[in-house]
Amino acid sequence: MKRKLLGALLSTAMVASLVAGCGGGNDAAATDTPAETEAPAETEAPAEDAAEGDAAAAGDTAAAGGGKIGIAMPTQSLERWNRDGAYLDEQFKAAGFETILTYSDNDSGKQVNDIQNMLADGVDMLIVAAIDGEALNTAMNEAAEANVPVIAYDRLILNDAVSYYVSFDNYTVGKLQGEFIETQLDLKNAGDKTYNMEITAGDPADNNAPYFYQGAIDVLQPYIDAGTLKVVSGQTDFDSVATAQWNTDTALERAQNVLSSYYADGTQLDVWLCSNDSTALGVAQAVTSDYAGSNTVLITGQDGDEANLKNVVDGVQTMTVYKNVSNESIVTLSLAKAILAGDTIDESLVPSFGVECAFDTESYETSEGNKCPSFLLVPNVITKDNLQDLVDTGLYTMGDDGYLSATN
Ligand code: BGC
Repeated sequence: MKRKLLGALLSTAMVASLVAGCGGGNDAAATDTPAETEAPAETEAPAEDAAEGDAAAAGDTAAAGGGKIGIAMPTQSLERWNRDGAYLDEQFKAAGFETILTYSDNDSGKQVNDIQNMLADGVDMLIVAAIDGEALNTAMNEAAEANVPVIAYDRLILNDAVSYYVSFDNYTVGKLQGEFIETQLDLKNAGDKTYNMEITAGDPADNNAPYFYQGAIDVLQPYIDAGTLKVVSGQTDFDSVATAQWNTDTALERAQNVLSSYYADGTQLDVWLCSNDSTALGVAQAVTSDYAGSNTVLITGQDGDEANLKNVVDGVQTMTVYKNVSNESIVTLSLAKAILAGDTIDESLVPSFGVECAFDTESYETSEGNKCPSFLLVPNVITKDNLQDLVDTGLYTMGDDGYLSATN
């Protein structure tokens, strides 16, 4: 399934024939509902108030029917979703909406229930960061039946009830990690030099995870093929290196196994490609405690989690790909207002976001052949040398010790 999406992502031949929203599907999960979800423009009354509800009008607008928004986040156990949930909640409230915010403990069944409860509560729109992109059909089909538009937030949901997708450019996240490794090791000019690498990827249930992996592998594969980069464990394909639920302990355990099986004899490890910060945290811990060599291992990450930024300062992790999730929620709010107001949703909306973002109608599908119009923000590489860029966002402060703390 994920492979199909990757195929679609990488295919250049496909041309999107776009309708408003991702609907129009032909798989069982979406059968009776796409027509309704294709036309969020027809969503009634609350819409207009929501669109007009400017930040200042908070209480009054909500009372006057500014709209009720259900925000379903996956878990509080991974740092970033606490930030996402808080920003979305704050920003929608400030714009005059009522909100229901849930975290579902990385349990898909619970997330289905949470969304069903939101629908029963009469939400006008759902914003969902899925735990498992393929496990929300029951709730999504109910949303479509109730004519409630769904924005897939950060992680795509594979159901045509989804109207739009807001995320970062996931493939680019991986590409930045791959290019970072390429530059740091100067692979283009490596000559006869060889480097040893290991790979840790994300949760197979998360539609993003194969995109991150593939973005990096597409940069590094030529060097693997040429023998410049060697994956000593031989574990290279996505399924072998995936980490269920992006869990730090799971990543730690696998890294310890790899180190004891393949590096205990003094083999040098040069780089560990990690798809994100929660997995990089486990890998860095394993490298610190279990790696026999004395060289610094280049470790990648993604998110800008506090513990990882500390590791970057300490030289234990080399980089992270930062995604400004405050901006992600700003884009989501603007899109939600436009959907509820019945505005045309296309690239003409982008300037109003005030955030760098691409409108992409090619890369993502909610079901075979059904492209999902997507707003994709731009990720950035953060290293020890540009931590100040994070402070400049106003979303982090730097302590006297040089470590960063998030402000929310
Ligand atoms: C997000 C990443 C995050 C990971 C684990 C992915 O869907 O895009 O930013 O690191 O989930 O929380």
